[in-house]
Amino acid sequence: MSDLDLKAIRDKLVDIARVAGRMILDANFKQDFATDTKLNSVDIVTETDKAVEDYISTTLREAYPTISFMGEETWQPGTKVTDTPTFIVDPIDGTTNFVHSFPHACVSLGLSVSRVPVIGVIYNPFLDILYWAIKGQGAFMQTRPGGSTIDRRLPLAKNPTPLKGLDTALVAVEWPAARDGPNFEVKADTFRKLTASKETGGSMVHSLRSMGSAALNLAAVAAGQLDMYWEGGCYAWDVCAGWCILTEAGGLMVGGNPGVWEPGVDERKYLAVRAAPGGQREIVEEFWGVIGEGRMEYEH
Ligand code: IPD
Repeated sequence: MSDLDLKAIRDKLVDIARVAGRMILDANFKQDFATDTKLNSVDIVTETDKAVEDYISTTLREAYPTISFMGEETWQPGTKVTDTPTFIVDPIDGTTNFVHSFPHACVSLGLSVSRVPVIGVIYNPFLDILYWAIKGQGAFMQTRPGGSTIDRRLPLAKNPTPLKGLDTALVAVEWPAARDGPNFEVKADTFRKLTASKETGGSMVHSLRSMGSAALNLAAVAAGQLDMYWEGGCYAWDVCAGWCILTEAGGLMVGGNPGVWEPGVDERKYLAVRAAPGGQREIVEEFWGVIGEGRMEYEH
């Protein structure tokens, strides 16, 4: 990693994210993109996803020919993240939102080295909010009020409050594309147990949020706007950038199934927890206890 100029790569990724963001907005405003489906009718891909990935991969390969590239739209099943420096890219994370013009989608650009996310850039063009982090250098939220660029260090709170337990937590979850089978059962059962009253054996979290973008969920946990995010089924391109931003903001990423304290970038099951004095261990174990005997099974 020592011979990579991470700051220069971050600058390039920010430039790329802003151009990609423009492409996403233009296509969304025109509403003339073709859509297709993958696994089923809720697993959507548009020609904009493909065009944006094509722009990103072409630009990155030209600028950094020795760094590998992995992107959602060109990934071949079975291809793993290796130790080689690799750009891990989701051209539109939140494609369902994009298709519905729900303004919560982003381009997610990560760099992993030795399977560790070392740069993350996430840009939501609808709200013009960009998140970035470089390993060892902190995480930031960039906005441009009145045209001047402001980088605010994450988490946003100077003194984050301790995590008091699930019954005071705001937790992000996502509905999976596969709407039946054992993984669906584990998720739906856990959602019910998280929200149910204490009297009926539930955790009674403050609430669940399901906003349709793994990358933006991770950015919100990094910012301290969500306490936790639990996911199963997403891929390295959904989490690589957000993972770097989360950990640089003092947050923790563990496995989505109980007992996995050190998940791989392509683990596919994750639990992200915000920065907090006193750490996250206790609330992680409380959350894993809710899952109980259930286990999500996704190949990685
Ligand atoms: C999806 C979103 C969603 C998550 C899915 C992802 P996409 O990414 O991040 O929140 O639950 O697992 O596939 O398809 O919009 O790029």
